Formats: sequence, structure tokens, C-alpha cells
Amino acid sequence: MTKLKVAVIGAGSISDAHLTSYMEHPEVELYAIVDMNEERAQAAVQKYGAKVAFKDYRDMLADPQIDAVSICTWNNSHGMLSIAALEAGKHVLCEKPLCTTVEEALRVEEAVRRSGKLLQVGFVRRYGTNAQVLRRFIDAGELGEIYYAKASYLRRLGNPGGWFSDKERSGGGPLFDIGIHVIDLCWYLMGRPKVKSVSGNTYTKLGNRSNIKNLTFYQAADYDASKNDVEDMANALIRFENGASLMVDVSFTLHAKKNEFAVKIFGEQGGAEIEPEFTIMSEKHDTILNITPQIDHPSFDFMEGFRNEIDYFVQVCLGRKELISPVEDGVELTKILCAIYESSEKGTEIHFNK
Ligand SMILES: NC(=O)c1ccc[n+]([C@@H]2O[C@H](COP(=O)([O-])OP(=O)(O)OC[C@H]3O[C@@H](n4cnc5c(N)ncnc54)[C@H](O)[C@@H]3O)[C@@H](O)[C@H]2O)c1
Repeated sequence: MTKLKVAVIGAGSISDAHLTSYMEHPEVELYAIVDMNEERAQAAVQKYGAKVAFKDYRDMLADPQIDAVSICTWNNSHGMLSIAALEAGKHVLCEKPLCTTVEEALRVEEAVRRSGKLLQVGFVRRYGTNAQVLRRFIDAGELGEIYYAKASYLRRLGNPGGWFSDKERSGGGPLFDIGIHVIDLCWYLMGRPKVKSVSGNTYTKLGNRSNIKNLTFYQAADYDASKNDVEDMANALIRFENGASLMVDVSFTLHAKKNEFAVKIFGEQGGAEIEPEFTIMSEKHDTILNITPQIDHPSFDFMEGFRNEIDYFVQVCLGRKELISPVEDGVELTKILCAIYESSEKGTEIHFNK
């Protein structure tokens, strides 16, 4: 059996989910790991049993043996690295967000077309078992026409610092980091309707609250609280051309009683709460039913999600499956996120071109 030879660029926190999934995959040879922090790349090569470490991604891309790469770096390098990898003839799995600007996202889309190579966007929540099971119910028409979705991803304390809170490297705060997951999941489950307009608000009222004691929170690999120019929280109302709408709110910090993670969609025949616990709601014989699907992980399981996403990428590279999170979806999500910031800045609704 010929194995897919894979390299991972960026050996920080999230790379573990990629590297573990590749390492365990029977049809993959985990070949190279790249990080500008050379010691980090070397340590990962040791830990995951890859062959070679690189400091400069260009040296890795020059190796014709490598078939595919995962990009797990800061957000502002995703576009540049995706284009370079595609031009070097590699398939790409790019972590979310695809890019931090619409112009760059369109350049990646063009590079995909030009190169004839495949690019999967790492919208990992789509690959959660709960999302895939719900998709089957939706595709079978069990929820009818979906006309409303509502998502919250609220951290009361959780600005990760480092590059996450440096807008130049991250593109934005909770919207780009966690909001993207729930906006994408709703949009995907709604059948990816065309966006008509976006109205958003962002707030920078509380700062990063690195002063808070006795309460732990997620921190970047290179934690640094000294720079923070991203929003604390954002909310948005997204209207679609088919009349459906999506309401969302997200935060790195907020005076909330506790964290909240909720994703709900509502259709004419039924509804579903996919987070925090998978439930399908419907009506039969004049009675309302709340149905609890019996699956191992009723809410998103991190490692299972990544295993599914990476197995899917491998199958796509081997020509056995069609992409379910293609570059076009990465472009659309970048447009939505950027429109939320633009709407907040201008204080008006942003209309998308027909
Ligand atoms: N899908 C998810 O659930 C999920 C979760 C966390 C992070 N992410 C995404 O993964 C990416 C990485 O996040 P993280 O938490 O691992 O960050 P991190 O800071 O822990 O790691 C990033 C690594 O990339 C390296 N790096 C940055 N630019 C580089 C370049 N040009 N060449 C080589 N190495 C480079 C850094 O040295 C660092 O080791 C981000 O885009 C983030 O949005 C996704």
C-alpha cells in the first residue's frame, strides 16, 4: 500500500490533534514537521515519530516526496502558506480561518483552481459525529425548511493572549477564533444559503482581564498578555437570500455567570440543539417530542472531530471522497467575519453583492 506522505506546518497547541490523527492513520506516513521555532519542530518529530524537522517551510515544500500538508500556524500566515503549498503541488488542509482578509481568501481560491490541487478548510465542527448525524436527518427532510439558527460561544474569561490577541496576526478576537466555528456549523447545517446582509457589533469594554486570579483559562503556547487589540465580544445578525436568519454572540470575556456554548437550528418540521447536547425536536400526533440520539459523543468530542476531519482529508487526497469543506466555504466565512467588523465600525448593515 502506498501511503500519503504528510507534513505539518506549525507545531504549537493544535498541531497535536493533527499529528496524533496522522500518526495513527494506517494510510499516512507522517513525514515532516515545520516550525519557525526549531526546537519545537524537533521535539514534535521525536514525539510523533516523523522523519524530519524544518525551520523554514520553503525547504519542506521543495521536497517532491511530500503529497499533502496541514497548516497549523497563526491566522495571518494561512493564506500565504496555502498558496505556496498549492503551487508546490501539495494538497492542503488549512486550519480555520482560511484567511484574515477577503482579498487573500480569493487569492487562495484562485491558487486552488490554478494548481488543480485540493484544499480542505479545517471547519472541524462539521466533522463531529453529532453534526454528521444531524446532516442525515436534515438531508432526509426531517426538519423541513430551516429558517432560523442561533449560536452562542461565550467565555466569561478566556482571552488566550499571545498572537490570538494581536489583531495583525489573528485577524480578530473571539469572532475569528471561536465564533467562526459556530457560524460555520449553523451555515453548513442550514444548507449554506447565500448571504444577503450582515449586521454586527463588536465591543472592547473589558480588556483581556489578565488581572483575574484563582480562575484558570486557556492560554496560547507563547502566552503574552501585554498586547491586546482585539474585541472582547461580538454579536451579529446574518440574513440569507432565502429568508432565513442566524443570530450569534461570542466572547473572550464578558460579565457572564458562566461559559455558554449553544448551537440551535429551527425548521418548519422540527428543530435541533446540536450543542451543548444533541437533541432533535419534532411534533407527532399532537405531541411535542424531544428526541435524544443515542451516539457515543452527543456533544462535540475534540479528538474524535479531528480524527474524522483528518481521515476525511486523507480519503479526499486518495480520490475516494468529495470535499465537504472546500475553499469556497472558507472564502464565504471570511466574508461574513469581515462584514461583521465592517458593520460594527460603520454602524450599518452590510449588503452582500448578488
Ligand atoms: N480547529 C480548532 O478547533 C482549532 C483550535 C485551536 C487552534 N486552531 C487554529 O490553529 C492555528 C494554530 O493555533 P495554535 O493554538 O496551535 O497556536 P500556537 O501559537 O500554539 O502554535 C502556532 C505555531 O505556529 C508556528 N508558526 C507560526 N507561523 C509560522 C510560520 N510562518 N512557519 C512556521 N511556523 C510558524 C509558531 O511558532 C507556533 O509554534 C490557528 O490558526 C488557530 O485558529 C484551531
